Amino acid sequence: VENVGIIAMELYFPSQYVDQTALETFDGTSSGKYTIGLGQKKMGFCSDREDINSICMTALHRLIERQDINLHDIGRLEVGTETIIDKSKSVKSFLMTLFAKEGATDIEGIDTTNACYGGTAALFNAINWVESSSWDGRKAIVVAGDIAVYGKGPARPTGGAGAVAMLIGPDAPLVFDRCVRASYMTHAYDFYKPDLASEFPFVDGKLSIHCYLSALDNCYNLFCKKMRKIDPDFKGLLSLDGMLFHSPYSKLVQKSLARVCFNDFLNASEEKREVQFPGLSEFKNHKLEDTYFDRDVEKAFMTYSLELFQNKTKPSLNIAQNVGNMYTPSLYGGLVSYLTSKNPQELVGKKIGLFSYGSGLASTMYSINICDDHSKGSKLEKLITTLNTSVILLEKRECVEPTKFSELMDVRTKNYHTAPYKPSGSIDKLFPGTYYLVEIDDQRRRTYDRK
Ligand code: ACO
Repeated sequence: VENVGIIAMELYFPSQYVDQTALETFDGTSSGKYTIGLGQKKMGFCSDREDINSICMTALHRLIERQDINLHDIGRLEVGTETIIDKSKSVKSFLMTLFAKEGATDIEGIDTTNACYGGTAALFNAINWVESSSWDGRKAIVVAGDIAVYGKGPARPTGGAGAVAMLIGPDAPLVFDRCVRASYMTHAYDFYKPDLASEFPFVDGKLSIHCYLSALDNCYNLFCKKMRKIDPDFKGLLSLDGMLFHSPYSKLVQKSLARVCFNDFLNASEEKREVQFPGLSEFKNHKLEDTYFDRDVEKAFMTYSLELFQNKTKPSLNIAQNVGNMYTPSLYGGLVSYLTSKNPQELVGKKIGLFSYGSGLASTMYSINICDDHSKGSKLEKLITTLNTSVILLEKRECVEPTKFSELMDVRTKNYHTAPYKPSGSIDKLFPGTYYLVEIDDQRRRTYDRK
């Protein structure tokens, strides 16, 4: 099978958000910390009406409806999430309610978990399946979703929520490069959720940034090495039209692109370095491992990479800045933003690099090629048109005051383990087509409805 990749996509984010400027005032932090320091604008959040099952189902159902998918044509359904509401039962099994109704039950796949990386792992499982001897000709669907919430404190403004659903198969408009995926996986306690009675993670913010950037260095160098094996002319960032990153907050993404340039700089020969990186030679003896928090290196390469950032990376940050860190769907929200921010004519034939990171830690860099055909009625045109209608909903959301946001978060926190339970969050405020929690009974079974 050829040209395996993403055929169609749907993105779901909550209908309510809190403004980051208002949150700065409410939290009593210095003005500009969340907006300039972290690079965030708005943060989406869910009331107790939504949980991981409902948001994944919302994205999945939208994909099925809008792509008019015959459920018997799906042979694999994968879920990536780190939002755990059951230690045994998968979110995938809940999503099967939609398929089982139609008698479509011959569907492989289950949930995958490792912080923000689960969505990428699920996606690779689906791609691998289509490219394998087990493939029976049907398509796969990957759903990645999370509700990202932090306790009160400096990490809270880096929350978010959302879900993405992707249809995977051959002859796709977004094709995955083969044999170049570059992973870096190791053990770290940077961000983890050992307290099963709480929705919040334990997070060592500084260590998590260190881990993220070192994973990026490792993945990027290996990715370039693998790329050069199939294309000796591969020039790193200069050979990529877009460079997308998992986005905990936008500032880290901009720093990451600067970091990629710093890697290219260190890897360049002396003569090339002078030409490509004029005025930066004072950094040539610096080492990757000593510079994760080196202000001079960071500043110099942030300045150097500004135009590259504006072209290759900034177009991927619309959802990340306006919804926040969605965890597993974050990178795919980046892909959606990138595809909807450009004139479609500019997208054809382009190659983009993607960096996926999940604390703990698991990370991969890989690449996607956008197909050449953007004619009317083509798969690419359909993909982008559908995504545009999802992204427009950013402007249809309701802005909620930080006091109200904080109250709604307290309701979630207080009732995280309550059963039986009837949620109090508003149904009126949800977007049409959203699934919501009706109740949790005394056996902790959850029932849902769709608006
Ligand atoms: N105006 C402009 N900038 C400001 C202001 C201001 N008034 N005040 C602070 N800043 C800047 C700081 O200088 C800093 O910039 P820098 O990153 O360039 O150093 C930035 O804003 C953040 O300020 P800090 O004081 O460093 O932030 P703090 O320690 O309060 O927390 C952190 C930031 C660590 C990101 C926290 O929000 C967190 O723990 N988030 C969750 C973990 C996370 O997202 N990690 C990333 C990878 S792992 C993952 O995906 C979960």
